[in-house]
Amino acid sequence: MTSTAGPIRPRRLRATPAMRRLVSETRLHPADLILPVFVREGASEPVPISSMPGVVQHTTESLKRAVADAAAAGIGGLMLFGVPEHKDAEGSGATDPDGILNVATRIAVAEAGDALVVQTDLCLDEFTDHGHCGVLDSRGRVDNDASLIRYRDMAIAQAEAGSHLLGLSGMMDGQVAAVRDALDGAGHDGVPLLGYAAKYASAFYGPFREAVQSSLEGDRRSYQLDPANRREGLREIELDVAEGADIVMVKPAMSYLDVLADAAASSPVPVWAYQVSGEYAMIEAAAANGWIDRRRAIEESVVGIRRAGADAVLTYWAVELAGWIR
Ligand code: PBG
Repeated sequence: MTSTAGPIRPRRLRATPAMRRLVSETRLHPADLILPVFVREGASEPVPISSMPGVVQHTTESLKRAVADAAAAGIGGLMLFGVPEHKDAEGSGATDPDGILNVATRIAVAEAGDALVVQTDLCLDEFTDHGHCGVLDSRGRVDNDASLIRYRDMAIAQAEAGSHLLGLSGMMDGQVAAVRDALDGAGHDGVPLLGYAAKYASAFYGPFREAVQSSLEGDRRSYQLDPANRREGLREIELDVAEGADIVMVKPAMSYLDVLADAAASSPVPVWAYQVSGEYAMIEAAAANGWIDRRRAIEESVVGIRRAGADAVLTYWAVELAGWIR
């Protein structure tokens, strides 16, 4: 092709590293990265997660070090998950002020000071013996409205432990409105909510189930979204915003970049994306086999999520990646 100015040569802007850097459209910054962190009740040493090489279940002691490292790396925040010693049908550990997630929250908040936004997973699956994200009715089905009652109490317990942002990942209908109402009624109207609005029933959560020692049998398809549905993802985003979500999430990230781009184009609140355990495991496994360049693949995967429209990204590489891009 030619124009009046001669042949069109887009390669001019790719000729040198300095020029490429100058015209780069998407930049990664440590402040836009959030590290998911697992804390295991009763552990005396950090426990490696075999399907997530490099990721551990922390002890309450090693958690302090992880928080300090995250703060030193300049990342935006942490998302805490608890791994309790005992589980039951109601997920009692979730609402117990001495439950592992609430204990870990108090420790992380104290350690983080003003440096990080300490966030907590608000979902029952780590705490229930059946492994579902809510409580079950007499026929064994996940009971939406009974689960909301548990979420309300869990939210108050997390706010009282000092969580800076509650991550509602259970995919129950009406969870954002219910939790907002409970918090406001308990004097916690300043605590913001992250709605996992478009959370899909994904095979890519596989390694996470090991990480939290999930007892789930069956699947979550009666509450998480069908991977085939794009419009429904946007509907969930709109509902969460209408119910009062301060931030919304698309999860997983890599297989849902279209949903993410749609959400980013229309959402009036920040849109985040969760690069989940299976996305991490795939790149680590391929890199360990020498099949891909590990650092380039990690950077490309996170740049792609940002380019699609995520304002911030939850990634298990947050601290390491921050060290590369500072
Ligand atoms: C549910 C929850 C899950 C993840 C985060 N929160 C798993 C699920 O829905 O089964 C997965 C995160 C990951 O795979 O990295 N509380």
